[in-house]
Order: sequence, then structure tokens, then C-alpha cells
Amino acid sequence: MLSVLATSLALSSAAFAREANIKITAPTSAVATHHYDYEMNVFHPIEATNGMVATEQNLASQVGLEILKKGGNAVDAAVAIGFSLAVSLPNAGNIGGGGFMLVHDAKSGKTIALDFREKAPAAASETMYQDEHGEIIPRKSWYTHQAIGVPGTVAGLTKALEQWGSLPLAEVMQPAIELAEKGYEVSPTMAKLLQVEKDNLGKWPTTKAIFFNGEEPLTTGDTLVQKNLANSLKLIANEGADAFYKGAIADEIVRDQQAHDGLITKEDLANYEAVEREVVRGDYRGYEIVSMPLPSSGGIHIVQMLNALEHIPIKESGVNSAKTISLIAETMKRAYADRSEYLGDSDFVKVPTKQLTSKDYAKSIAETVLEGNITPAQEIKPGDLTPYESDQTTHYSVVDKEGNAVAVTYTLNLNFGSGIVAGNTGILMNNEMDDFSSKPGVPNAFGLIGGKANAIEPNKRPLSSMSPTMVLKDGKPWLVTGSPGGARIITTVLQQIINAVDFGMNPAAATNTPRFHHQWLPDELRLELGFSPDTVQLLEDAGYKVSIKPSMGRTQTIQIIDGTMYGYSDPRNPDGAALGY
Ligand code: GLY
Repeated sequence: MLSVLATSLALSSAAFAREANIKITAPTSAVATHHYDYEMNVFHPIEATNGMVATEQNLASQVGLEILKKGGNAVDAAVAIGFSLAVSLPNAGNIGGGGFMLVHDAKSGKTIALDFREKAPAAASETMYQDEHGEIIPRKSWYTHQAIGVPGTVAGLTKALEQWGSLPLAEVMQPAIELAEKGYEVSPTMAKLLQVEKDNLGKWPTTKAIFFNGEEPLTTGDTLVQKNLANSLKLIANEGADAFYKGAIADEIVRDQQAHDGLITKEDLANYEAVEREVVRGDYRGYEIVSMPLPSSGGIHIVQMLNALEHIPIKESGVNSAKTISLIAETMKRAYADRSEYLGDSDFVKVPTKQLTSKDYAKSIAETVLEGNITPAQEIKPGDLTPYESDQTTHYSVVDKEGNAVAVTYTLNLNFGSGIVAGNTGILMNNEMDDFSSKPGVPNAFGLIGGKANAIEPNKRPLSSMSPTMVLKDGKPWLVTGSPGGARIITTVLQQIINAVDFGMNPAAATNTPRFHHQWLPDELRLELGFSPDTVQLLEDAGYKVSIKPSMGRTQTIQIIDGTMYGYSDPRNPDGAALGY
């Protein structure tokens, strides 16, 4: 490590990014032989052999663990966790939003992607967030009834249970119903979030009635009881998804929409379907990567970047050295430039997925990364062939004793979504419409630029960054991971994989390693606190505009090695827990 540092310090800024001895290399297919060298890892995951869950809310982790212990499989536990997080993590867990699930079925060896992303209502239109001069109307796609996409979570969770679960819906939903009815203590983390979003939440009497005590949001130690949400959950438990999409809940959502100029109709809800899709596949240094396909951009760009990095010996330049950061950041920039141009809902637009994930294209990216100095973002165009998202999405991972694995990332988009509780349903509604490109070239809430491919169209799904991902070894899950973090999800998951594969870190060490991010535009290298000042200086000297900003991502990771599960819940949210038995 010291010699790497010494080498880096000796580099002039021009030569810094590309040390002479770094040459394009043939991709190595040898699987790293490292395993947990216990003493080499500074942080440690929990271990178990029968089953494990990792979520960012310990109450939901308890629910998942109990389901596994009583004989439920990974999908049963994942569905129970999904409903429980809607109660216990109201800023991101949801039934009024949408998301993605990867299911690895141990028996067949197949990994399936389930898309329950929100859809634009049929009455949505390309310029719906622009005024008569074509200017974006500030916050219309964030905190209004028109910001709400047709929710997919209930369709997704119930479909997953029907297809791959083993327990009845009412049984896996019971813990969530009890949590909502009896309430639970507001943590300091949640109290802070409620305070930050006070104005957005306080505007709506239906929301205020739940999350406020008088004029102030609930605070640490208060009990959050959600009777209306409990009633909605009971309806779903008894009647299935129809209660939400065709029954009493649908009626109330539509009534609330009509009262506030919203666009969602009964037809929109009745027509919603969760869709099974082919996973995006890749391989990296002998491991197989399976991740979420469109309408997520995550899988495509994780595979694209890993394909390029396979040619770049980052192991030699060392974890989080200035040179490694630079090489990876240059790769990230090129992937995000492509994202802005090509990616959108593949049910509506033709996306060159094959090319974006091809080894040849990646080699050409690696060549440009390795050949020159740091390329200013404006000089990078999408290959020839994004405002900052808040972190308020959530991910969880589950593995059972049969070797089934589930990775779910789902969201309301921003913290507490639109902030709107639909009528008397107790259900917080998303503001996922902001993930569309409201106007080509104008960044969204997460600084992401989008183009025509991600323009608003009726019934289309907005492009996402959510990236539930599995790394397989010999056809079996070796790493199950994912993260919230908006635009930063993709680069967070990338680093989680690299830290495991290239640097031999266990999930705890990989998670605690400070993260960096570059998304092409804005032309900024974003770092978490925790990089050494020397490294920051080297990066700045090399020409990067470095910004130290709030932490990125909250991964929930399980690794399986020789039958032992190693789990870790990202301490960036202290409310989370990995639990196993
Ligand atoms: N709303 C965050 C995402 O889907 O990427």
C-alpha cells in the first residue's frame, strides 16, 4: 500500500491519471482465490448458515428473519419485509411506489427480474411539467398530485409471492399490519428526516394527521401509529392486489387524484401489471453478474463499467488510491453519458443494450480511459451507437437455507415521495414521474440529464437507477447486494462488487470503504468524507473538481461462501440490521 502511495505522489498532474506501466490488458478470467482472511479485514459481517436478511430497518429485518425461521422461503421473507418497510421506513419503504426484484431460484438455477416500476398515467404528456414558454415549472414533478406515477409495489409483491413464495399472503402481511396498528418508536434517524421534510409533509392534512403531533413532526421516541395504513394492508391481505388496483383503495386514490388535478384514473390502476423480465448478464474476472434490466439503467451500466474495468488492473493501483479513483471515475463518466442519450423504457424505445454491454464496446471505453489524461465532461459525448436523486430509496437482500436469494430495491423516489397520503388510505404516494426527463437536457432532482428516450409518454415507465444485483459463482449466488442513492446507486453497487472481487473484502469491509461517484454531468468528482487529504489533493491537482458531500448509498449485502452467509447492513443508516440464524 505504501509503495502505491509513494508512486502516486510522485506523479505529475499530467501523468497522474495514467501511470506508464498501466497498459490495456486482456481480461482475466481467473476467479480470485481470496476468501475471508479474517485478520486482513478491519470490519466484520455477521455469519449464519440457515438464512439471512439485511434491510435498513431492524424491525423489518426481524420480520424477515421470523418468516425464514418458521420455514418460509426467501421470497416469503422478501414479501413480508416489503410490506413491513412500508410501515417502518415510511420515507422509502412503500406500497404507494414501485421497484424491482431479482429472484434466484436455487432449484432451476435461474435468476428472474420482476419489474414493478411505476407507470405514467394514460393522460400524461411529454410537456406536462413545462409552462407555456417551455420552461420547467419548479417542483411540479416533485410535490404535486401530478408527480405521482401509477404505483407498482402491491402488484410486484403479490405476484412474487404467487409465483415463488410458499406462504399465504395474509400470513406474510400480518407483521406489517401489527406494526402499523400498534405503532413503533420513531428513531433519531427518522425524526431528522421528518424534520427536513416538514414543509412538504405538513402541506397535506392527510399526511400531517399521521406524521405530526400538532404543528411539529413526530420526534425521537414518539410512537408512530398508522391505523389507516393498517386498514389498507388488511384489505390487501384479504382481497389480494385487487383491493389496491380495483377495489376500495383504488376508489380512494382516484377520488384524491380528482380532487387535486391528478391524472391517475381507475383504468390506470386496473391496467397496471408487474412484468417479469430477462436479467442483464455479464461476467467480471470469472464471476457472473446478474442485474436489473430496463427500465432500470443499473444493470446495463454496471455490466458496461465492469467490462471496461476488466481491462484495467485496478488491483495493482490499490483500493481508493487517487489513480484507482481516477480510472474508475473516467469509466463512470462514459457510462453516464450513454445513459443520458440511449436509455429509456424498452417497451417504448429501442435501446442498444447489446452494444452497451458488449465486450468490444467496453474495450474501446477502456482504451480511451487508459490513453489520455482526465477528459472534461463536455468533451465526452455519448458513445457512437441526470439533478441529484436523494437517497430515499431502499434495498434489502434475503438468502434462505435452500440457496434461494432475493434482492429488492424499491422506492417512493424522494424522501416520503410526493409527501402526499392519498385520502384515508394511509398510503404515501410516490413522485416517480420526476425520473422522466421533463425536458431534454434539463437535469432532474438528481442532476441526471435525460433525452428523448426517457421523455414522458402515456403508460411508460420512467428510467431508474435502482440496481438489485447478484454476483454468481459456479451458477450460485456469491454476493447479493443493492443500494438506495438515486443516480449514485449504480456506482455504489459497482464499488461493492469491485471491493469484493478485486480487493477481497468481506461485505462489512466493502461497505465501510468510502465511496466516490462521477456521473459525467455535473462535471464533479463526488467523494464521501473519509478519503485522505493527500488523495483529495492528488485528484484536484490532476484536474478534478472534487466535492466532499453527504454519504452515498446504504447497501444491504449478503455474501455466501462455502455455505456460510456473511451479511452486513450499511451503517450509513444506523437503523438497519443484518440478521441470520
Ligand atoms: N427514483 C430512483 C430511481 O428509480 O432510480
